[in-house]
Amino acid sequence: MAKITNGFGGHDMLAPFTAGWQSDMGPLIIEKSEGSYVYDIHGKKYLDTLSGLWCNPLGGNEPRLVEAANKQLNTLPFYHSFWNRTTKPSLNLAKELIDLFTANKMAKAFFTNSGSEANDTQVKLVWYYNNALGRPKKKKFIAQAKAYHGATFISASLSGIPALHHKFDLPASFVLHTDCPHYWRYHLLGETEEEFSTRLANNLENLILKEGPETVAAFIAEPVMGGGGVIPPPASYFDKI
Ligand SMILES: Cc1ncc(COP(=O)(O)O)c(C=O)c1O
Repeated sequence: MAKITNGFGGHDMLAPFTAGWQSDMGPLIIEKSEGSYVYDIHGKKYLDTLSGLWCNPLGGNEPRLVEAANKQLNTLPFYHSFWNRTTKPSLNLAKELIDLFTANKMAKAFFTNSGSEANDTQVKLVWYYNNALGRPKKKKFIAQAKAYHGATFISASLSGIPALHHKFDLPASFVLHTDCPHYWRYHLLGETEEEFSTRLANNLENLILKEGPETVAAFIAEPVMGGGGVIPPPASYFDKI
């Protein structure tokens, strides 16, 4: 096999992998999955506790998924949804999603290719909505410290992770961050979960008042914080928010 070099002094980028998983120099190369397990190129087995990136709960080589994908690839592998066009699988999935949604009379389905793109789209829709209502100043988004909302310009801005911002000129100026709802890490001595939630809700309210409510468009949060540490919200948090 030809060596792949990185162009910086001829370092052999494949060495750590071809020699076995002995160093932290390169990525762990995952080759296949079976059920809840994945295997690296050396046959080592891992329990995939994150289900991919939370999005693969049926796991690997699930016959129903393989069959459905195979059937669709043979029927219509790709089509777009521009200019008022769509496809049957898109319509079926849209109906299923809307039926699940409690406010389904208001609901529409709008498909994107990733979570990042979905969050960018949410921001655009909120801006569009406020422009349509003649509220051009109502554009700011408030997100939480440690939240993960994606990797694009807008969704990385919404994310509350300094490493995603540093030297990327992020977050964009319309994004503000409020407290991370991690009770165990951030509660004050003797503070109950309820009291912690009250404090965070008050901090959010004060931030909105300080910024000017007429400039704040939305608050965005994960129901259970994922990338920030799989943190369920403290008691009464979302009610108070
Ligand atoms: C809560 C949340 N929002 C958005 C994203 C971004 O999704 P994607 O990686 O599909 O762009 C992720 C990814 O893990 C996520 O966990």
